[in-house]
Amino acid sequence: MESQSEEHDSGKLLRAQSHIWNHIFSFITSMSLKCAVDLGIPDVIHNYGKPMPLSKLITSLSIHPSKTSFIYRLMRILIHSGFFSEQNITKQNELEVEYVLSDASILLLKDNPFSVTPFLQVILDPILTKPWYHLSTWLKNDDPTPFEKAHGMMFWDYAGHDPNLNHLFNDAMASDARFVTSVLIEKYKEVFQGFKSLVDVGGGTGAVTKAIASSFPQLECVVFDLPHVITGLQGSDNLKYVGGNMFEAIPPTDAILLKWILHDWNDEECVNILKKCREAITSKGKHERRVIIIEMVISENEKRDNKSIETQLFFDMEMMVLVSGKERNEKEWAKLIFSAGFSHYKITPILGLRSVIDIYP
Ligand SMILES: C[S@@+](CC[C@H](N)C(=O)[O-])C[C@H]1O[C@@H](n2cnc3c(N)ncnc32)[C@H](O)[C@@H]1O
Repeated sequence: MESQSEEHDSGKLLRAQSHIWNHIFSFITSMSLKCAVDLGIPDVIHNYGKPMPLSKLITSLSIHPSKTSFIYRLMRILIHSGFFSEQNITKQNELEVEYVLSDASILLLKDNPFSVTPFLQVILDPILTKPWYHLSTWLKNDDPTPFEKAHGMMFWDYAGHDPNLNHLFNDAMASDARFVTSVLIEKYKEVFQGFKSLVDVGGGTGAVTKAIASSFPQLECVVFDLPHVITGLQGSDNLKYVGGNMFEAIPPTDAILLKWILHDWNDEECVNILKKCREAITSKGKHERRVIIIEMVISENEKRDNKSIETQLFFDMEMMVLVSGKERNEKEWAKLIFSAGFSHYKITPILGLRSVIDIYP
């Protein structure tokens, strides 16, 4: 007969095995979600306008007749991971399952201006997943990033050469930017008050700045990014596009926005960017001056739930694999800010996993 401690040990082993299996397979959630989005399942259910029976979902999708029985299984795992919910109904004595969207799949609809679909498409594109196979080799040699190891050039150079990646990436940034700006203007509008001019450094195609420029018509706004990102984009009355390199010079201004820029770069590069920002805001008159950073502040204590911390750590690893950057905790932020010569900072955690970090010259 097994002793109690042997039983205890085998219980522990089985739980450990299941923990490992769960993590080995966790890419299946991402890839199943991508498959559902590629097939347009969230939009098909949304357009149906009421709970959608499985049989109707199947006939609405462009799939081969021999594959119809697989949709139930795809939906089952996505229900389990919270992307849809189901209800069972009986029609003519037959039990049928019907699907409805969850809050998460509403954020995956094509026409939702805050859609996370472009982000999903770029992060799960093979160009961005291939570098993960090089992570351990990269740690053993002096290649700059796993992305560079996989593709022979740095991420930003690749985006400059490959219009497809450039487009996918800029679309992903633009929908996130619309989302963040709408929350920011609702919860912390005063962050943009008191300035005459604002430069959105690394502002992509200008989604954030367009919203700011229309909410603050007196504010002179500039979207500053690499030339290939802004080529052909049209400004408006109080919005201009300027191409350039933030490591060289940033146009003079009262305020600078740095949204999702510093997490792309290592500490030394960040201090250089922040010094250029400081030069740009101190070279103008005596208005209020500030750099407004929108980034994650990694939670070190148990203030956040486990899932949120895990998501922040996912972002940190993504930055390690794609670029030379990282996500930072408050101590690491303070070190960068003071090393670049700024006098103080204020963190306002109003953007879910991200915060607004105001820094003052
Ligand atoms: C992660 S994206 C953030 C885009 C935008 N701020 C947002 O959050 O939606 C980083 C941006 O930095 C830009 N960038 C990279 N290197 C740059 C440089 N040396 N000078 C100016 N912009 C640069 C990229 O082209 C890209 O648009």
